[in-house]
Amino acid sequence: MSRPRLLLHVSLATLLVASVALPARAGDPAAGQDTAPAPRERRLLDEGWRFHLGEADGHGAGLAYDVRPVLEDSEDGKDADAQPDAAQAVQADGQDVLKPWILPTANYLLPEARRHARPSGNPGGTHPFVQPGFDDSGWQQVSLPHDWAIAGPFLVDGPHGGMGRLPSWGIGWYRRTLDIPASDQGRRLTLEIEGAMSYAAVWCNGQLMGGWPYGYSSWELDLSDCLRAGASNQLAIRLDNPPASARWYPGAGLYRHVWLRSTQRQHVVDGSVRVTSPVATPGKAQVRVRGELRNDDPAPRTLRTDIALFVLEADGRIADRPVAQAALPPARVAGGATAAFDRLLQVDQPRLWGPPPNQQPHRYVAVATVRDGARVVDRHETRFGIRDVRFDPTGGLQVNGERVQLRGVNNHHDLGALGAAFNRRAAERQLQILQAMGTNAIRMAHNPPAPELLELTDRMGLLVVDEVFDSWEMKKTPLDFHLVFPEWHEADLRAMLRRDRNHPSVVLWSIGNEVGEQYSEADGRRIARTLRGIVREEDERPVTAAMNYAKPDMSLPAELDVISLNYQGEGIRQQAEFEGTERIRTPPQYDAFRARFPDKAILGSETASTLSSRGSFLFPVTPLATSPVRQGQGGDEQVHQVSAYELYAVDFGVSPDVVFAAQDRHPFVAGEFVWTGFDYLGEPTPYYSSRSSYSGIIDLAGFPKDRYYLYQARWRPDLPMAHLLPHWTWPGREGEVTPVHVFTSGDEAELFVNGVSQGRQRKAPGQYRLRWDAVRYQPGELRVQAWRDGKPWAEDRVRTAQEATRLQAEADRTMISADGRDLAFISVQVRDASGQAVPRDARAIRFRVEGPAELLATDNGDPTDMTAFPSPVRNAFNGKVLAIVRALPGASGRVHVHAEAQGLAPAVVAIQLQPGPMEASP
Ligand code: GAL
Repeated sequence: MSRPRLLLHVSLATLLVASVALPARAGDPAAGQDTAPAPRERRLLDEGWRFHLGEADGHGAGLAYDVRPVLEDSEDGKDADAQPDAAQAVQADGQDVLKPWILPTANYLLPEARRHARPSGNPGGTHPFVQPGFDDSGWQQVSLPHDWAIAGPFLVDGPHGGMGRLPSWGIGWYRRTLDIPASDQGRRLTLEIEGAMSYAAVWCNGQLMGGWPYGYSSWELDLSDCLRAGASNQLAIRLDNPPASARWYPGAGLYRHVWLRSTQRQHVVDGSVRVTSPVATPGKAQVRVRGELRNDDPAPRTLRTDIALFVLEADGRIADRPVAQAALPPARVAGGATAAFDRLLQVDQPRLWGPPPNQQPHRYVAVATVRDGARVVDRHETRFGIRDVRFDPTGGLQVNGERVQLRGVNNHHDLGALGAAFNRRAAERQLQILQAMGTNAIRMAHNPPAPELLELTDRMGLLVVDEVFDSWEMKKTPLDFHLVFPEWHEADLRAMLRRDRNHPSVVLWSIGNEVGEQYSEADGRRIARTLRGIVREEDERPVTAAMNYAKPDMSLPAELDVISLNYQGEGIRQQAEFEGTERIRTPPQYDAFRARFPDKAILGSETASTLSSRGSFLFPVTPLATSPVRQGQGGDEQVHQVSAYELYAVDFGVSPDVVFAAQDRHPFVAGEFVWTGFDYLGEPTPYYSSRSSYSGIIDLAGFPKDRYYLYQARWRPDLPMAHLLPHWTWPGREGEVTPVHVFTSGDEAELFVNGVSQGRQRKAPGQYRLRWDAVRYQPGELRVQAWRDGKPWAEDRVRTAQEATRLQAEADRTMISADGRDLAFISVQVRDASGQAVPRDARAIRFRVEGPAELLATDNGDPTDMTAFPSPVRNAFNGKVLAIVRALPGASGRVHVHAEAQGLAPAVVAIQLQPGPMEASP
């Protein structure tokens, strides 16, 4: 059997120890001279938090960011492609709100003319939770990243399907003491929040310092004036996550890392550095390093900056010797001012960054060392890659001169049973499963991702579309981002650009997804122009927006550098049954856009939106190449599952096969991003009583659906593989028509039922699956032999399962780090005595961990399963269950994870713990 192994690489473990300054290195003129304390430190503040859900009794008045519209209808279950509506205007009318004190937080990103003045006063200053002396010992102890809603319980009733049926909205408070060493006296101390969901407000020693509404942005807050060196300080953070604010599960809480940055008063301005490679050829590269120096002292200073470029090895180590270095002319920086630097360096025989399999994702680090006299005052690192990336209207995406067809997927930010709380290993596992399928690109739908995710895409060589907003001024859900767009779009967009622009994996900026302004000519033009103008000030990469409605003659596409079409390329609702519909109905658009914009590259930013439940096959099977889901036609309203024949899609989508055909007919199209790689929490079209989506190629637990092999056959054409569906255990269907489909990278195949040939078929042009639709079920064995160019290529077989007798368990890795973050994912399959998977088994399976580790969550990929994720007992879904285990920090030795079910022989896996991190940071 030729099913490939999914998890190809032994992975890196999590990093995240407080990073310190780089040691002086060979080639650095200051080596050996620098005895001062580290000029720059970044301390991870993930530990030691206390959490309280809800507001203090009798308090909270005046602490809302702004007045919110009254929520009359959550609009749960509204069609994903419904036209967004105009925002409802709301006036604060003299009510106390925090907005005037929060807005100035954005000032560090804004040009002077648009900065906000901070009013006097200290709102919330008398609130008990912000008082340094408040006794929070009764609060929950938590470590970050933390998602307060993921443990559930699921909200089984009510209109909550869109946001994942988890209690993510409401007020949450976090408190932490912060001991600041005396050596920080006089230094600049900045809180870095990688993501707080949402509407954060921060008090330091009882003083309101600022905050941030958009939950997906990474932002910073200068606490230098508040924190006392040589003392214990108190941080209090209030979040106010709105209901009806998303079309998917947003998560809740401090769900990414929080850091404290300590720098000297003369330093490189964080976020100011831009490293680009205006020339990137195998023989020679030019690397341009730009940035700003700041002098926080009142007196002027003369600062000398050296720039050195080093190779960053695949394991995260920085090479000893630089590949290029330059000393910049001394800069006289006035008191309280900044000075720009800009330098071109040459690198001979550069190791270019590019996507596998034909290229390698080589990385570099630019180190800026700043001196004030002989004293090193800063040493600032920026990771980057040297590569030449262009979008060509005919030749698609060109990376270092090679056409790289985008074989992409969209993903939301949740990590299934772990929720929105970012975990590096969980994200890396997702990317590995996708890469094994042949994916080379990810669209970050529809918001800036965790910064570490981009470290992973850089290291693994995945191409990224980085997207900032799902809505502009018009709303999709009543309390979504549109409420703050007018005052925050600039800061949020600049925050993303400055954070992400040095990542070699990012190839395209998306300023919006299916925004309502597609429909309004003047607004579409105005806002797109503004946002693109901001991008142009910060970076050179092209700008796009994903459009499911705008046509070539409308205003929005004309403002974009690259045309991104959601579903329109293939055509929307083209089947006869949609004639006369009031919904979007659009003939195929690739040619029309190319005719109107011959100078712009075009891609499919969302394609397919095929729906299915892993391992659930429903009859009859449509004879067509694609079909919308209806009762008895791919869908089952009793059980709320969608057939895994992989032919059924949302009304505005199509099967993968139809997308492939459209791509092949339009070779100028740069590729596609499938909606979606993984199932995600929320948006459970077509059954809004469920908790999670049906659109993933891979289910929420990380188990591939059959569709996985359809994509693999196309995206890894040189991997010999054949995949049969459905399973072959159908008691009661004897003699009934039970179609058999085959996904293969071969060009021909022969199917056998109990050794009897059902005929040999060859793929016709535009055909991507082989189907034997008239097969009648009889128990026994299905076997397929695939051929390529007339030679045997791959085979697959599946047998009728007998009674279940045992569990089989497998860990994704048998050694993990006990760094408190690394995870083991244990997959369990129900099997019969001969080892055949029992495909529809749904019995309860209990997990037990023996040794110094904890069971974090279980899942099975069933969108209808309302058992809370932390439960150690979970029903198998179509024969499979997953457990996620984490070692206790600092532990060593071995852990055994047991899986047990009534009537079956249990399974156990052993996991070896390693005390330190597995390898250096990525
Ligand atoms: C698109 C939308 C996505 C998702 C998808 C579901 O219209 O951009 O966010 O809703 O439909 O099929």
